[in-house]
Amino acid sequence: MNILEVYDLTKFYGDFKAVCGITFTVKKGEVFGLLGPNGAGKTTTINMLTGLALPTQGRVVYSGTDYTHNIKKAQHLMGVVPDESNLYPELTGLENLCFCGALYGLKKAERRAKAEFLFEQFGLKDAKDKKFSAYSRGMKRRLTIAAGIIHDPPILFLDEPTTGIDVASARQIRNILKDMNKKGTTIFLTTHYIEEAERLCDRVAFIVEGKIIEVDYVDELIHPVKDRNILILTISGVSDGLEEKLSSILPGFSCKRLSDSDIRIESDRAFRTGHIIRIMEEAGIDVMEAKRMRATLEDVFVEVTGIEAQEMKKEKEKKAQEG
Ligand SMILES: Nc1ncnc2c1ncn2[C@@H]1O[C@H](COP(=O)(O)OP(=O)(O)O)[C@@H](O)[C@H]1O
Ligand SMILES: [Mg+2]
Repeated sequence: MNILEVYDLTKFYGDFKAVCGITFTVKKGEVFGLLGPNGAGKTTTINMLTGLALPTQGRVVYSGTDYTHNIKKAQHLMGVVPDESNLYPELTGLENLCFCGALYGLKKAERRAKAEFLFEQFGLKDAKDKKFSAYSRGMKRRLTIAAGIIHDPPILFLDEPTTGIDVASARQIRNILKDMNKKGTTIFLTTHYIEEAERLCDRVAFIVEGKIIEVDYVDELIHPVKDRNILILTISGVSDGLEEKLSSILPGFSCKRLSDSDIRIESDRAFRTGHIIRIMEEAGIDVMEAKRMRATLEDVFVEVTGIEAQEMKKEKEKKAQEG
C-alpha cells in the first residue's frame, strides 16, 4: 500500500526548473531515500511534499487522498525534520518539545509525558533543561527529530539527517531511524551520502538535476553487480601510461586510476590477489597495499548517473567544513 504518491511534481524558480516532473511512490512502512548531489532538487522536493514550498505543477497524494492544493491539511500525517533546525534557541529542550506538542494539539499532561519519553529514547535526558542554543550539533539534530515525531506521525520526512554532524551522532541517528521504522513509521529521507542510503533505505531514487533517473529497492540495484570482484591497489613506481600498461598486462580486467597512487581492478571472473600482485611487480609496478572490496550502491550510482563518487564526497567535505 502506498502512503505517498507523487505525480509529475515540478518546481520553477523564475525561469529555472529545479524539479522536473518527478513521479514516484512511497510504500507504507518502508525507508525511502532521495539520493543525489548538491543542487539536485532534494530540498525543493521535500519542501513541496511537506507544504513548505508550492509545487508549480503535479499532484501529491497521501494515503489515497489528493492534498496537492492543501498540503497543510495533511500535516497531522507527517513529521518534518528540515536541514536547518526549526527549534527555538532561547527555549530549553523540554520547552521546545512541549511547544511542538502544543502545536499538534497534544494536551498539557500528554505532551509533557511524551517529551520525557522522547528525551529518554533519544539519549538527551541530561540536557532537557539546557537551552537549545547550548546543544551540540548532534544533540540539536536529535532533538529536532524528536520534535518531528512528538505527534506520532505515520510518515517522517528528514532532509539530510546526518549531514554536518559527528560520526558518533550520525550513527546514533541512523539507529534511532531504524528503530522507529521497525515500530512502523514510514521514513522519507534525502541524502548525498551513497553509503548512508545503502545502509538505511529499503528503496532509493537517484535524483540528478531535478530528474529522477532510477528508483528501486537497494537490493535490486545492487544485485547485478554484487558478484563483481574488485581489488584496490596502492602502487608506486609508475606515472605515465599506467592505464595502457595495465590493460596490456591484465587483459580482460577493467582498470581505473583512482588517484596518483590508487588503482581499481575489476573482473566478473574470480581471481587471486597474489596472482595480480605478481603480474604487476613483474611489470615494474610496486604494490604497497591491496584491498579486496565488494561492489556497493556507489558502483551502481556512478554507472547510472555518470557522477563520480569522488564528486559526492567532495560535497560531503564541503558541507562538513561549512558547519
Ligand atoms: N529559493 C530559490 N530560488 C532560486 N533557486 C533556488 C531556490 N532554492 C533552490 N534553488 C535552486 O534549485 C536547485 C535545487 O536546489 P535544492 O532543492 O536546494 O537542491 P538539494 O537540496 O538537492 O541540494 C539548485 O540549483 C538551487 O540553487
Ligand atoms: Mg538540500
